[in-house]
Amino acid sequence: MNIGISGINGRVGQILKQLLVGNNAEYAEFNLMGGFARVSDIDSQPITHNDLGSFLDGLDLVIDFSLPENCVNLAERTATHNVAMVSGTTGLSDAQMDVLAQAAKVTPILHAGNMSLGVNLMCALVEQAASRLNLNYDVEITETHHRLKRDAPSGTALMLGRAAAKGRGQNHDQQAVYGREGSAALRQSGEIGYAVRRGGGVIGAHDVSFFGDSEVLSLSHHAENRALFAEGALFAARWLIQQKSGRLYSMADALNI
Ligand SMILES: NC(=O)c1ccc[n+]([C@@H]2O[C@H](COP(=O)([O-])OP(=O)(O)OC[C@H]3O[C@@H](n4cnc5c(N)ncnc54)[C@H](OP(=O)(O)O)[C@@H]3O)[C@@H](O)[C@H]2O)c1
Repeated sequence: MNIGISGINGRVGQILKQLLVGNNAEYAEFNLMGGFARVSDIDSQPITHNDLGSFLDGLDLVIDFSLPENCVNLAERTATHNVAMVSGTTGLSDAQMDVLAQAAKVTPILHAGNMSLGVNLMCALVEQAASRLNLNYDVEITETHHRLKRDAPSGTALMLGRAAAKGRGQNHDQQAVYGREGSAALRQSGEIGYAVRRGGGVIGAHDVSFFGDSEVLSLSHHAENRALFAEGALFAARWLIQQKSGRLYSMADALNI
């Protein structure tokens, strides 16, 4: 499979590159053709492009960990170049997600706010718990990430919140409360509350709690190594290359959960 990495100089992009440039038998079927960054570096191995057209030429699939603007441009171009795309970029607006969904009608695209098996399994568990526990159980989500993370709450926290809303048959966006302050911050029934912490080098920690009157159920996930995301993206790539276009795929599709 001829693949390219968009955001090759980023934290996740660098790990993907390390997994693919060495003689790693586990990933022998991947042929890393090039990377995409804002600054080109033709002396680097593999060649890093700053022009999307030359980057996409000859690729079967692109893996993207960058920023929303770039992710959306890439999705539009993959559709015209007939290249499949796995994107883990977070912080996309609803309108930007719509662009991905449109492009996914033409070429296979998988987007996931988190590529880890553990988090995707946690989403399924949160949905199940939410469907069993009534609205007397208050859902609160906390997430912690490193000081350089731009978007908040994290894409993973939003995935978990949407899973809780789905389990309860709620409209997530009508129930989500992003932080509380002031004297009129009393919790309303049915709210899905988010709290965000940023600091140090934390790769990603998420907790979803269901607070009842007499008990608290909490589900937690801590990412301990960024390789988790790169390995998940390669797992998704193997799955996606076998799929047809039609709708935007998620990691839950690839993991069959
Ligand atoms: N889904 C998951 O499992 C998962 C896991 C971890 C992170 N993420 C998300 O993945 C994204 C990247 O994370 P990261 O930690 O690797 O971030 P990062 O270290 O900041 O890397 C982002 C890279 O994107 C490139 N970039 C930004 N804007 C660009 C543009 N307009 N055109 C081309 N390249 C552009 C930058 O490259 P240059 O500056 O060299 O151009 C930078 O190296 C974030 O949205 C993060 O939240 C997702």
